[in-house]
Amino acid sequence: MAKIKTKFVCQECGYESAKWMGKCPGCNNWNSFVEETAITGKQTRHTFSGITTAGSKPERITSIVSEQEPRITTDLKELNRVLGGGIVPGSLVLIGGDPGIGKSTLLLQVSQQLAKKQLPVLYISGEESTRQTKLRADRLGVSSDSLYVLAETNMLSITNHIEQLKPSLVIIDSIQTIYREEVTSAPGSVSQVRECTSELMRIAKTSGIPILIVGHVTKEGAIAGPRLLEHMVDTVLYFEGERHHTYRILRGVKNRFGSTNEMGIFEMKEEGLREVLNPSEIFLEERSQGSAGSTVVASMEGTRPILVEIQALISPSSFGNPRRMATGVDHNRVSLLMAVLEKRVGLMLQNQDAYIKVAGGVKLDEPAIDLATAISIASSFRDIPTRPDDIFIGEVGLTGEIRRVSRIEQRVQEAAKLGFKRVICPQNNLDGWTFPKSIEVIGVKTIQEALNLAIPR
Ligand SMILES: Nc1ncnc2c1ncn2[C@@H]1O[C@H](COP(=O)(O)OP(=O)(O)O)[C@@H](O)[C@H]1O
Ligand SMILES: [Mg+2]
Repeated sequence: MAKIKTKFVCQECGYESAKWMGKCPGCNNWNSFVEETAITGKQTRHTFSGITTAGSKPERITSIVSEQEPRITTDLKELNRVLGGGIVPGSLVLIGGDPGIGKSTLLLQVSQQLAKKQLPVLYISGEESTRQTKLRADRLGVSSDSLYVLAETNMLSITNHIEQLKPSLVIIDSIQTIYREEVTSAPGSVSQVRECTSELMRIAKTSGIPILIVGHVTKEGAIAGPRLLEHMVDTVLYFEGERHHTYRILRGVKNRFGSTNEMGIFEMKEEGLREVLNPSEIFLEERSQGSAGSTVVASMEGTRPILVEIQALISPSSFGNPRRMATGVDHNRVSLLMAVLEKRVGLMLQNQDAYIKVAGGVKLDEPAIDLATAISIASSFRDIPTRPDDIFIGEVGLTGEIRRVSRIEQRVQEAAKLGFKRVICPQNNLDGWTFPKSIEVIGVKTIQEALNLAIPR
């Protein structure tokens, strides 16, 4: 009898090994290996009619006809923007997010919007029965003859239904519940997720039907199953937010058809998700305007700019050794900035306790936040508030000079988008790009110059 070949696969990162291991050499997670049956090359694949499996041949790029297929636009402008202008035909989009964040709600609303335009949509739920989906649909006011609901987890059956119905959009909620029979491991395991996704990819690419996939997120915040899921799909969006708050943010993490710097903001209501058209208020809504020791910085989080408030509290020290505390920024960096302020601007900070905090529990780790931190410290020390619609960007050098930062354009754009009126940034960053019209951009060379602008005496 033929021996069944098995392998051990790390459920966190997809690392494969012939033997079980306690600790994964790939991602250092403990106890993450699960035995799975290896798929051998002879496996039959599901077929989707209309696919040519005949050998492909290289073509000259000049001889390929470029057809600009129109994107499918939803009524949610924020979603269209994050997608790069709408759903691209034949694309595979992964939407990740914590449980209960509103992924199903968002996709049901999108389905409804397209179905209303007579585009047939197939909503496949592996998590809820059709009755449960109907209940949600009733709450959201979703009802359309072109919207089909299917409660199914078997990939083969899903393939057949897509083939028969030929919808304009398919939604899979969620990839962790779908399984292929020939893969023996449980739904949600690395092998299942990978195999099902590659099958969906094939359907999308060959039929031109865009497919939106929901993916669960692990404790650490990555999409459950391997990272490789993110590599396979065209677009990865994350739906995030505090479950106890009603605001939700949709971010692009990867996009083959658009920029990943976009983010869409929604508010969760009883009747579904509503777009937030003026997001600046939310982000800084807890910021007490006009209090000393608070500035806002546009920091890059990976490739995305985020606006964060940096708070400082400077108070006379009652002990010989002043305290320096920093949350969210590097403690040593704060000491350095205080020394620069003392030496170059003449602020007597040596006998002051300093508490620095990045509001919202964010961790910032880049030099461009120096200027905002220093201004916060000076503002608290002098007890003079900065203007609430100012943004500070720049690295502070040891001689008190303000040094160039990366991606200034995106930072300023983000600030302008969120309604800020004035950016104080390095003079050296001003060349070679055009400022948004709604915001005043002021270049500074030294920390003293920046202080004169921010907190004039
Ligand atoms: N009756 C309701 N009124 C208002 N909000 C609701 C109601 N029922 C559910 N919700 C919201 O919808 C969320 C669930 O959204 P859902 O789309 O199921 O999330 P996911 O699919 O990401 O797990 C809940 O966290 C809650 O905020
Ligand atoms: Mg759901």
